[in-house]
Amino acid sequence: MGGRGMATIPIAGGRFVIVGGASLVGSATAAELLDAGAAEVTVFDNFSLGSDAAIAHLKDHPRLRLVRGDVMRMPDLLDAMKGADGALLLAAYMTLNMDRDAWGGLDVNIRGVQNALEAARATGLRKVVFASSNAVYGYGPGVSGELVENTPFHSEGAPPAAILYGASKIIGEQLCRHYKRKHGLDYVVLRYSTVYGERQHYRAANALYIIETYDRVKRGEAPRVFGDGSETKHFVYVGDLARANRMAFESAATDVAVNTSGPRPVTTLDLVRMVTRLAGSDIAPEFVGDTPGQVRLTSGGAFRIAHEEAHRAIGWKPLVEMEEGLARLIAWKESNEGKTS
Ligand SMILES: NC(=O)c1ccc[n+]([C@@H]2O[C@H](COP(=O)([O-])OP(=O)(O)OC[C@H]3O[C@@H](n4cnc5c(N)ncnc54)[C@H](O)[C@@H]3O)[C@@H](O)[C@H]2O)c1
Repeated sequence: MGGRGMATIPIAGGRFVIVGGASLVGSATAAELLDAGAAEVTVFDNFSLGSDAAIAHLKDHPRLRLVRGDVMRMPDLLDAMKGADGALLLAAYMTLNMDRDAWGGLDVNIRGVQNALEAARATGLRKVVFASSNAVYGYGPGVSGELVENTPFHSEGAPPAAILYGASKIIGEQLCRHYKRKHGLDYVVLRYSTVYGERQHYRAANALYIIETYDRVKRGEAPRVFGDGSETKHFVYVGDLARANRMAFESAATDVAVNTSGPRPVTTLDLVRMVTRLAGSDIAPEFVGDTPGQVRLTSGGAFRIAHEEAHRAIGWKPLVEMEEGLARLIAWKESNEGKTS
């Protein structure tokens, strides 16, 4: 079962289920798969975090199917996956929501993944793509340098919610490996770095910072830089990720976990300068200390999330530079769709 070559799912004519699809990554990936000729794309979501607005641009698409369902309920998953070829597993709580409700977050990120894998096996799906995160490397002072796929997890000095999130993604990845070993279910794990782009939401700490900075500059206020601005952030544009998800299905790769990050990291100060410029201003940033009580994901030294392995495994590399991706995010935010989201 599942030897090399067998794990390939052509997109044209294929049927896909995007679990947790009514949001940032899911909406972009649904469009990508439909554009590539998928026979059907099912967006499965309980709308606890996602929204109708996030998929409004696709709602009348003849090959899009919208299913309200919950990953905590097996019958919902079994119904949605019947007859499908592949599933993309996105449903999750990220750090900020994990901080608010760790109980719910661990349920969705662990049992929800287990349920989805079991439903995929039971309905005979050929491949699963699991959305992991660079959170599997942890946070805090230990995280620096080149982050490659076998870089260990650092928990020292990081907020518990970030560690719970990262650890839950490690478990999700291992559940995929377990299903491959026990049942031959092919899978690719993609470790997304912080996602930004059209249909941006306010749930990811680092991407939220982009929106807050833009809003401040637009109001004529100085953008805020925490610390000295040298802290590294490594984002990835949502359209690049949609392509990575598609290529993970199309490629022969199976039983692998690879990083998917943008072309290069940025410092906080560079990021703030870019956003200020795109907001049409040259206002100087204000340097401030940390705000107590806020979950902030500080990194230690400079780092880069290496994505070369993704090229070897699925032939993917990021194409959209940060300045271009930010311009697209802002254009969307200023459009009617972005204003009403
Ligand atoms: N956004 C980022 O910066 C980022 C970075 C790294 C990894 N990731 C991972 O990528 C994936 C997608 O990210 P996103 O930003 O689109 O996520 P998101 O949080 O916006 O979307 C997750 C979706 O899952 C749905 N969901 C939550 N609980 C559910 C349940 N019980 N049943 C059914 N659906 C449920 C939500 O309603 C939401 O639409 C997530 O797994 C996330 O952990 C995201």
